[in-house]
Amino acid sequence: MGELASQKHVQFIVSVEKKKDSFESVVMEHIRMNGAYWGLTALDLLGKLHVVDVEEVVSWVLQCQDDSGGFGGNIGHDPHVLYTLSAVQVLALFDKLDVLDIEKVASYVAGLQNEDGSFSGDMWGEIDTRFSYIAISCLSLLHRLDKINVEKAVNYILSCKNHDGGFGCTPGAESHAGQIFCCVGALAITGSLHHIDKDLLGWWLCERQDNKTGGLNGRPEKLPDVCYSWWALSSLIMIDRVHWINKDKLIKFILDCQDIENGGISDRPDDAVDVYHTYFGVAGLSLLEYPGLKAIDPAYALPVDVVDRIILDR
Ligand code: FPP
Ligand code: ZN
Repeated sequence: MGELASQKHVQFIVSVEKKKDSFESVVMEHIRMNGAYWGLTALDLLGKLHVVDVEEVVSWVLQCQDDSGGFGGNIGHDPHVLYTLSAVQVLALFDKLDVLDIEKVASYVAGLQNEDGSFSGDMWGEIDTRFSYIAISCLSLLHRLDKINVEKAVNYILSCKNHDGGFGCTPGAESHAGQIFCCVGALAITGSLHHIDKDLLGWWLCERQDNKTGGLNGRPEKLPDVCYSWWALSSLIMIDRVHWINKDKLIKFILDCQDIENGGISDRPDDAVDVYHTYFGVAGLSLLEYPGLKAIDPAYALPVDVVDRIILDR
């Protein structure tokens, strides 16, 4: 089995940020806040967050904040919960949450809860269990979960549970490992995991592993993809069923997706690398306790030391 080309991945992540006119940077322009979270968390897991200019990042994050309290994907872009969580996560990595007007950010997020307990992503109203997770994770990191109706939020998530044990984006929508991470993560953060049939969901999740390559997919009949080494694996850990998959085969699959010459990790072996799959590949390896990486928290998707600092510091 090959090894994790840590140094190359650090160089790749830093170079994407520097080359502002590269293909990857242009594609990421409107979701730069998400990209910052992926790249910086990967650097932290690799033990290299210190290569970053903290003041520059913090100042840019603050410039992405809208009058509503929410954050956009870049300076001057409309606010959305997707970018608001990433902004909070980036500041959390640097222990800089104190630069925020916490009440204002929390009010923006809490204001997106609907009467039935669900959450909209922004003022335009699209509803998705991704946004329930984001709101709950974000408010928990800000110690402001009291600003929403947690019981209703949990009941809405439970209304998205399917007979196969999985969860979808809205009631009745098909099970998808990405949405399962969101629902299980939100239930974990709110202390509500007892509502899950762990054996049933664990079975659905461990069936995501492809016997041949060892990789995980997000739904039946789909190709394996490195990012599901995060979405499905973190869920299996949260429900205590990670021993139902073959960890060594999954480690091999992730390592096979590396570009060992130029750095970066792709969705499948020999595809083009990107920051998203580089982050989720490294995060997956961290969950698999690959040597030399910081441990990551499966519910908050942040390094364990960062989560401990915030959650224990009430
Ligand atoms: C698959 O997306 C992933 C999801 C649907 C979950 C996304 C979750 C969030 C945005 C919440 C925040 C996440 C973290 C880690 C803090 P895809 O569009 O790649 O799905 P596909 O494989 O079906 O194309
Ligand atoms: Zn993917």
